[in-house]
Parts: sequence; structure tokens; C-alpha cells
Amino acid sequence: MCGIVGYVGSRPALPIILDGLERLEYRGYDSAGVAVLGDGRMMVHKQAGRLADLKNSLCEGSTGCVGLGHTRWATHGRPSDANAHPHLDCSGQVLVVHNGIIENHAELRAWLERHHHRFRSETDTEVIPHLIEHYWEGDLEGAVRKAVRRLEGSFALVVASTREPDKLVVVRQESPLILGLGEDEFFVASDIPAILHRTRRTIVLENGEMAVIDDRGPRVTDWEGAPVDKPIIEVSWDPVTAERGGYPHFMLKEIHEQPDAVRETLRGRIAPAGGVNLAELQPLEELLRSCRRVYMTACGTACHAAMVGKMMLESWVRIPVEVDLASEFRYRDLLLEPEDLVVVVSQSGETADTLAALREAQHRGSQVVAVTNVLGSSVAREADAVIYTRAGPEIAVASTKAYMTQLVVLALLALHMAQLRGTMTPDRIARRCAELESVPDRLKLVLQHEPMLERLGGRLRDEEHVFFIGRGADYRAALEGQLKLKEISYIHAEAYAAGELKHGTLALITEGVPVVALATQRQLLPKIASNIAVARARGGWILAVGLRGATEIQQLADEYVPLPELSPLLMPMLAAVPLQLLAYYAARARGCDIDKPRNLAKSVTVEG
Ligand code: G6P
Repeated sequence: MCGIVGYVGSRPALPIILDGLERLEYRGYDSAGVAVLGDGRMMVHKQAGRLADLKNSLCEGSTGCVGLGHTRWATHGRPSDANAHPHLDCSGQVLVVHNGIIENHAELRAWLERHHHRFRSETDTEVIPHLIEHYWEGDLEGAVRKAVRRLEGSFALVVASTREPDKLVVVRQESPLILGLGEDEFFVASDIPAILHRTRRTIVLENGEMAVIDDRGPRVTDWEGAPVDKPIIEVSWDPVTAERGGYPHFMLKEIHEQPDAVRETLRGRIAPAGGVNLAELQPLEELLRSCRRVYMTACGTACHAAMVGKMMLESWVRIPVEVDLASEFRYRDLLLEPEDLVVVVSQSGETADTLAALREAQHRGSQVVAVTNVLGSSVAREADAVIYTRAGPEIAVASTKAYMTQLVVLALLALHMAQLRGTMTPDRIARRCAELESVPDRLKLVLQHEPMLERLGGRLRDEEHVFFIGRGADYRAALEGQLKLKEISYIHAEAYAAGELKHGTLALITEGVPVVALATQRQLLPKIASNIAVARARGGWILAVGLRGATEIQQLADEYVPLPELSPLLMPMLAAVPLQLLAYYAARARGCDIDKPRNLAKSVTVEG
């Protein structure tokens, strides 16, 4: 999510750190900070805003040869100078930069405060320097070792101390960290592009590993201190490929990031016994218990996620839900009452229509829960409660991992409300939670169909029209599938509730016309089978995405992508992946500008 760069060598560290951070700028960030040691003093500078501003405001230089830097993409605590990294302990002697999420930060903070530690930021990260200070017994490495054992969550850390100014201690757990080996100089970074122009020789740290880096190079151990023999890996990527993590496009990278993104979304939100734990909804708990109706509003892909969310809320919470495009919400004769709950969904948190809908709802006295990916965004600031999707920065215009994590958050919200209102038994909630926890591994299985979807995407290259059909949650998933295809390949696509085909579009399905049929809803398989049969009888070319073992559907289809089975309302998560890959490879076969499709913007901040 955020960017990390560290340096130990014989040259002044500051320009090297700043240059490395600049090379990570493309990933997006909201604040930045640097620290340099090794010349008998310590220089720390951090502030909200662009790296260029940070550079301009650096009045003091530094000749120190040990340094670390960070670009922050806020997750806990809004973007501000105080929340920017590095974070320090009370004595100002321990410095930490961190990527990831410390799940038990609230508990650790309370404990540290009882031990008289004083906090200066709202971040989860700040517990780390204080813990290191607490466990200090004369050496940095030992104190870090003790501190990390107290941490739960994901973290890549770079730690420095004025007491041992010639070294960095780095730790990895669930958040990437690589070491770079130069000639008598050593680097650490969260991402290869930060250091690729300096060295191609790298060591990739694994979970549960740490390293001490001084002028003799890195020494890698496990957290107990046992040495680990690490291979040196030569990176052959060019700088542009490196930015995309080796993928040809950000979209493909982000499709592949979905298992990890879902893991982050779920982190700390499912109790070990299986209940949902959404502390961020505490301020609205009374309303969540008592509301009689829910309005959901969003634009584009986020609205497709809301449509699935509606089905979850209706089915699990037994509450009526309306979904509106945000651009429509304001201009109709809404029957919204102050005691209705409003949920807005927005990846960027800046979409003008969504923001206006949120304000309209509040103006009418309703309270709003926002589901967004960007901390400190307008929607996040103005909503009455926020659930973050934690997908990490999404760069491709066509949304993939943000949509996926919106589905996961909406499932959590529905289960949370079902828990509060007693509309599902604890057992049933626990089963759904267990299924949610299985989603990352199942997504990985679905991603294995990529070669087939590459071939099928190629098959769509010269098509002008593609139809998507599905029933129930599959229809909502089909809406997102057709949007992906249109957005990036410019092939005209339309999604139909499969039962509606006969009321209109069937005349357009003639010899060879592609029909993508979703068949993931077990209770609706016989129905969708007959819809497929009808399309096939008109000569349609059928690509079905369905449950593994649904032989009737498979036999009717020209091509079949099998999916593992989850509860019907969770199936849109798994169905999304083949549809994203299909759109991606169709666009690629047509030579489109996949990450920046024509006429579209990632975030539409004006009403049009
Ligand atoms: C734009 C983007 C879409 C996105 C929509 C809503 O149209 O191109 O990909 O779904 O805005 O954006 P939001 O940031 O509010 O989710």
C-alpha cells in the first residue's frame, strides 16, 4: 500500500531515499517523510502532501549515510503531518516506517499509555516505536525482536535508532519487503521500482523473517534470531514492467492482487468464534438495530456492488433495501425518512454524484455509512461512519479489486446487522464468516483459469455485441461483467436478467452471437439452463461461467469456466474474476489502452 525505501552505505542517504520514493509516486500517497542518521545527529522531516513539497521544505541537508523514507496512503488516521511516517518513541531515539495494518493497535496503545508512553499521532503504526522503547535492553535488534511478537496484523517495518545509528533493522510479515545489494551499499524497499536503477541483485524477505543491515550488508534471521540462508535473485524486469509488478498492465496486476486485497479487507473483522467485528460502526449501532429501510447509492462499478449488497441485506437482515444510481437519487421524489439508513459506496470517495447524494441524505436528516477505499476522502470525511475496503491504491481506471472488496465489506455489513438484529443464528453467521475467509484461496483457484480466458478473450476480438445473462445475484454480477467489457474493449455489451431475454433481446441472438451466461446460483440452475438452451437454439455461442459439476449447464455451453461453490450471495465474488479476465484479454486482443480507456476517468469529480 504505502512505499518504503531505506539505505545503508557510504554515500549521503537523503538524495537516494528521496529518489527511491519518487519512483514509487505512481502508486499514489497522501503524505511523505524521511529520516537520516549516521552523521552524529538525526534529521527527521515529514508532512502531508506531495513529495515535491517535502523536498522544497527540507531546509537542512544531511550527510548521514543511513536513511529511511516513506510515502503514506492513509489507513488509520487521516492524512496529516503528525500521521506521516516515520513515527518516533517518547525519547525520539527510535524511528519506524511501516506498511500494513496493526490489528491489535488499540489494545497495545492502551497498554503502552498505562506504561506512560505518550502518543503524537492517530496511527496504528505509532505503537511500534513505543513498544521498541519499552523492550529496549541495550540493543536495537533484540528490542525489535521482542516488539514484533506483540504485533498482530500485517507489517513491513524499517527501524532505526540514534543509539545504533549505523544500521537499519527490517521485518516482514504479510507485507512485501525486499533488500537490494549494491557495491558496498545496501537498500531496502517495499517495491522493486524504488531500487531497480541502483541494483538488480535482491533478497526477498518472507513472512517471519527480519534482517539487520549495516555496512557489512544484510544479515537475515527469523524472529527467534536463527540465521536464514537467502538466495540472491537477479531482477530482469525493465523499470516500466517493474512498476506493474511484472504484469503488462495495472489492471492485470490488480486482478491478481484480489486474494491479498480480500485478506486485508477481512483482517481483524471476523472474531475467532465467527462473529463480525466492525467497531467502526459503533456510532450508528442504535440506528443499525432499529432502521426499517436501507437506501444504497453509488455510481458505476460501485453501484453494481451495491446491488449485490442489497440482496445480502434483504436476505440476511430481512430489511427492505433500495439501490439508486447516485445521479438519480437526488432527482427523484425520494421517500427517505430520517430513521432510514443510507449506505454510499465509492472507491475514490470523491465521485461528485455520490458525494451530492450523501449530502442530500444528511440534509434530510438521515445518517450515512460510507464504504470507500480512500481514507480522508470527501465521502469518508462527511459520512457518519466509514467502513474502509482496504484494497490498496487502484490505478487502472476499470475497477477490479475495489469492486471485489466492496462486495466483501457489504457482506460484512449485512452480517453485522444480522448479528445486531438477531435475524441469523450465530451458527449461520459463523458459517458465512468461514466462507468469507475462504474467498482468497478460492479466488486463487479461479485465477488458474487465466490461460483459458486469454483464449476466450481472443475469440471476442472481432465481435461487435456480447450479451451477458444471469438470474438473481448472477444478474448483478453480469451487469458488472458487461461494464468491464465495454469500458476497456469498446465492444458493445448488454446484461440481461436471463428471464427477460424473451421479452426483448432474443431477436438479436443469431448465429455465432456470443452470450456469456452465469450459472452460479444453485437454486436457479434449472431456470438458467432453459434460458441458455433458448439462446443456443437461436445459434448463440455460449460461454458459461458456472458451478463446478453443473453438468447440464456445461453440456449446453460451447465453453465452460467452472467455479468452486459458496453460498449464492457470495458467488459474485468468484464470478467477477473470469469476467474481468475475459474483458482484459478481449481488450488486449483488440490493442486497446487497457489502463486508460478512452473518455473515462478514474474518479469523476464533476456532475455531468
Ligand atoms: C468512474 C470510474 C468507474 C467507477 C465510478 C465510481 O466512472 O470510471 O470505474 O466505478 O467512477 O467511482 P467511485 O470512486 O465512486 O467508486
